[in-house]
Amino acid sequence: MNFADFHRRSIEQPDAFWAEQAQLIDWHKPFDTVCDYSRPPFVHWFAGGQTNLCHNAVDRHLKDRADQNALIWVSTEVDKEICYSFRELHAEVQRMAACLIELGVKKGDRVLIYMPMIAEAAFAMLACARIGAIHSVVFGGFASVSLASRIDNATPVVIVSADAGSRSGKVVPYKGLLDEAITLAAHKPARVLMVDRGLAPFARVAGRDADYGELRRKHIDARVPCEWVDATHPSYTLYTSGTTGTPKGVQRDTGGYCVALAASMKHIFLGQPGETYFSTSDIGWVVGHSYIVYGPLIAGMATIMYEGLPTRPDAGIWWSLVEKYKVTAMFSAPTAVRVLKKQDPAYLSKYDLSSLRALFLAGEPLDEPTAKWIAEALGKPIIDNYWQTESGWPILTIANGVEKAPSKFGSPGVPMYGYNVKLINESTGEEIRAADEKGVVMIEGPLPPGCMQTVWQDDARFVKTYWTELAGKQLYSTFDWGVRDADGYYFILGRTDDVINVAGHRLGTREIEESISSHPNVAEVAVVGVADNLKGQVAMAFVIAKDASGLTDNAARLKLEGDIMKLVDGQLGAVARPARVLFVSALPKTRSGKLLRRALQAVAENRDPGDLTTIEDPSALQQVKELVAQK
Ligand code: PRX
Repeated sequence: MNFADFHRRSIEQPDAFWAEQAQLIDWHKPFDTVCDYSRPPFVHWFAGGQTNLCHNAVDRHLKDRADQNALIWVSTEVDKEICYSFRELHAEVQRMAACLIELGVKKGDRVLIYMPMIAEAAFAMLACARIGAIHSVVFGGFASVSLASRIDNATPVVIVSADAGSRSGKVVPYKGLLDEAITLAAHKPARVLMVDRGLAPFARVAGRDADYGELRRKHIDARVPCEWVDATHPSYTLYTSGTTGTPKGVQRDTGGYCVALAASMKHIFLGQPGETYFSTSDIGWVVGHSYIVYGPLIAGMATIMYEGLPTRPDAGIWWSLVEKYKVTAMFSAPTAVRVLKKQDPAYLSKYDLSSLRALFLAGEPLDEPTAKWIAEALGKPIIDNYWQTESGWPILTIANGVEKAPSKFGSPGVPMYGYNVKLINESTGEEIRAADEKGVVMIEGPLPPGCMQTVWQDDARFVKTYWTELAGKQLYSTFDWGVRDADGYYFILGRTDDVINVAGHRLGTREIEESISSHPNVAEVAVVGVADNLKGQVAMAFVIAKDASGLTDNAARLKLEGDIMKLVDGQLGAVARPARVLFVSALPKTRSGKLLRRALQAVAENRDPGDLTTIEDPSALQQVKELVAQK
């Protein structure tokens, strides 16, 4: 079928379209209504239906592929590789489910998962789905303050964690950070389930901390049936940053998500049962949820979960896995490719990559030199795809499973089926119909299956943050700028809000500012994202010190910069650490006291700051210009 027709049908006849896609998964009870949009912008997909994500990801494949690989865990950190067949995964997930039940977890309860990239993290996610508990995975790179705010918002009954992760051969302890986070949080989880990898000794809190190894042995023969849940039952929450307040818990349903992933595996990722999928993301991010754990397994594929760096033991490691496991689809981020680009290209031709059909890249803009380099080096199609934590699956890309279409460098592609994408003029609020005009990328409601249902426990915030009404229609904002060319291809031009994207990691500048503000010698701070050749963007902090008297001394300045970085490391995690902290005596503000963030960012990137008629003190920007020039 031609893609334009396929897309048109998804928008004009959503019920018929999605009822068809819904056949890709198993239903315990068929749905009554495909799309209930009676209370916009909230939508209920497949209302009345009952299913289970874990059943679709694991149990339903036992019939045809019990002994085929399901989860392939590879760690170059601890030099281990374990392949779990669907039968074994089924057993492990039931053991984990039995442990969670023993610790008091019931349907609808939250389970927070704070873990490194180990198989038990996937078992825990699937076990939650199995029993109808709602998981909330927190990226292992986050530190105690970030973790504490998520604990308070998710109010988990149980936290599943591990003694440590490992990065570049160095042990990264988790338990201390977790204990600190629980101390900081107002909500106290009843129990903590600890996976002990034997990497780092840790203290146990009696009566609270349980040992997974011990409990697992007790439940070695566990039989825990799937709990059939309503299609609209929340499957998980995943926290993501925006402009204001604490990170939002993006809440996902069960039935719509399952259908959306199954459909995307077919139409976009071309995944066939029995094949192997390799996503290099982390389970702490949305790509890890959709395309390490759920998507590939729902499609009956084996999925590789990789703990380690792309360059260790050498830059051939990923390609050696492609050869060894005959990977057909690979998913990574542009930053990872830019890291590999710095290595010897011979690593790319060293392995047999004939199984690989395409490399999918997402999470940040894919620059043309990087795209060209990897396309030539691999000799495979490179498929850029644009989406968000909120959407759960690609919004813009190329659906080669529907109709083969060319990619364009610099563009992730065209709106996917189910997404009624609009470009809106920021100042007039009107739809842009002409080509090559910049606007905000928006999606007309209802959002398709798989997208966020709401903000966890905060419907009002969901409506207020994301939705606006235009000519009687509800529009969801992606908070990204974009343009569309004459062929209908979109180009993403960066965020409209205060979110930055460091190496594909989405961070809120406000959270970093809050953390820096807690330093006793910081009076004021502004954090902006600055273009970076390797990471896409890095955070740069501009600080007004309370006592700046010693800061003319180089060593004193560097010491304060180092202290501030350490503070952010300890509170939020190294991912949020600014690349530079620069000290200024004033920040560029309007006469009414509003920070001129875009002007600050422009100057920090050596660009023209644009219209400055409202600025109170032009010397503030001059100072920034000089500091950046000195770098
Ligand atoms: O700004 C866009 C950028 O990443 C944001 C979403 O990040 P996150 O919620 O972490 O989800 C990532 C899912 C892949 C978007 O608002 N972004 C994501 N993909 C692309 C992108 N920018 C340009 N091109 C992309 N392919």
